[in-house]
Amino acid sequence: MPAVPGPVGPVAPAAGTSARATLHGMRRLFPVTDETAPRTAAGTPGGERAAHPADRERSTDRERNADRERNADRERNADRERDADRERSTDRERNADREWSLEELAAAYAYPEPGPDGPRPWLRANMVATLDGAAQHEGRSQPISSAADMRIFGTLRALADVVVVGAETVRREGYRPARARAEFAALRRAAGQAPAPAVAVVSAALDLDFSLPLFTSPLVPTLVLTGAAAPADRVAAARKAGARVVVAGDGAGVDPVRLVQALADLGHTRLLTEGGPRLLGQLVAAEVLDELCLTVAPLLTAGDAQRIAGGPAIPVPQRFQLVSLLEEEGFLFSRYRRG
Ligand SMILES: NC(=O)c1ccc[n+]([C@@H]2O[C@H](COP(=O)([O-])OP(=O)(O)OC[C@H]3O[C@@H](n4cnc5c(N)ncnc54)[C@H](OP(=O)(O)O)[C@@H]3O)[C@@H](O)[C@H]2O)c1
Repeated sequence: MPAVPGPVGPVAPAAGTSARATLHGMRRLFPVTDETAPRTAAGTPGGERAAHPADRERSTDRERNADRERNADRERNADRERDADRERSTDRERNADREWSLEELAAAYAYPEPGPDGPRPWLRANMVATLDGAAQHEGRSQPISSAADMRIFGTLRALADVVVVGAETVRREGYRPARARAEFAALRRAAGQAPAPAVAVVSAALDLDFSLPLFTSPLVPTLVLTGAAAPADRVAAARKAGARVVVAGDGAGVDPVRLVQALADLGHTRLLTEGGPRLLGQLVAAEVLDELCLTVAPLLTAGDAQRIAGGPAIPVPQRFQLVSLLEEEGFLFSRYRRG
């Protein structure tokens, strides 16, 4: 998903995408519903085998009457089905022509309900890739994104307790603090969440500009996740700026398993990572990723851009299951869970 910082909401369409890149035509492709799968009307030709004339010959009067009643019933049912079909197709047209509300998107992407033992951390990644697997173009993800992609990006942020992001993405994309959005205020309050998610920057070197608003003026203090061996002067600079430094590794770097645990210990269980690829590769390798929300952009870029997850290949590919698939203007919005 594009790591576009700052206010999240409709953005200018990416180069090459249509100017009417709104959510107007968003369709649910999976799970398959009435919206996508027209039903075959009962009683339509081929729906039920007609009685053979020889059978009718052998019918008694009672059977003939029963036949007549059944036929009348069938015709009435067929009429009702035709009416229902007409309504459904009007609904489909209405659905195709309307904008999905943020509430609907939030419901479609809700985090799992806590189990009987209370909430457990759930780590979701949100990434965007082109048809040929590029996770960026000219060093940024914005050129491969779309307005609908940004709307889902914003919704996923609005559902999260914390947004985990690698330092290089913060540097390259000029991350800003997540903002509180009026549209999600009630939802967040009801879920016991702060008005906006915290941003958690993962860094070993802490070579970050701590004078940026991300560190100095977030709504919720920005977290800096690092290893025990992080440079002391940089740790001090982070703290001085107002960031909360969390050690989640014994060496220079962060251990992904400890990252998840450390965030859970702070009360953050609805976790969202926005990459980048080097960080995501480690989360995949450590098997701590529960869900991937992947936008497939209908673009080809060739070149040597990173894929959404980098680093050494894992010995056995991990299987994920498709949970839902939305489409708008050729962009596919998929949601997969660990199988
Ligand atoms: N397509 C998408 O959805 C998407 C999403 C996000 C980003 N991107 C693109 O991806 C590119 C940046 O991604 P990237 O893969 O190069 O970098 P990244 O994963 O964002 O950040 C890498 C940096 O994170 C820190 N880091 C990673 N793992 C760590 C660990 N275990 N412990 C401590 N620190 C750790 C290190 O920071 P230090 O160097 O400070 O130690 C490392 O240099 C950009 O071009 C961006 O546009 C695309």
